[in-house]
Amino acid sequence: SVGDPERGRQVFKKCASCHMIGADARNRVGPPLNNIMAARAASVADFQYSTALKKAAEDGLHWTPDTLAVFLETPKAMIPKTKMTFRGLKSAEDRIDLIAYLATFSGG
Ligand code: HEM
Repeated sequence: SVGDPERGRQVFKKCASCHMIGADARNRVGPPLNNIMAARAASVADFQYSTALKKAAEDGLHWTPDTLAVFLETPKAMIPKTKMTFRGLKSAEDRIDLIAYLATFSGG
């Protein structure tokens, strides 16, 4: 299933209170999300991540469409002590479209 990045741009409004993406993106409550795809988790150098997300990264967590889909459905189910206080995206279509949107800012 291929996501619709234009629709994903609308879904990203749920993230934009905490995350920036694109040119000039910088830290807010959460880290900027450029080049997230295939990146090791917790790799924005000047962002202060939770111990829990840093541990997951040390254990090998990388962000792929599959790991992002799991994380974004219920962040605290995947990483109980993450400091991302977001309940999650219950709609699979929302997750797929959002991930397609995030991918447009990765690896380009
Ligand atoms: C971390 C995505 C909503 C706050 C992250 C990470 C991703 C992500 C991929 C890991 C970044 C990395 O490893 O460098 C998203 C998406 C959202 C969303 C796609 C919308 C669907 C939110 C919201 C908030 C938030 C609404 C604030 C209430 C954070 C924080 C972290 C984080 C504080 C760091 C987590 C930690 O260190 O444990 N987010 N996020 N996010 N996000 Fe979000």
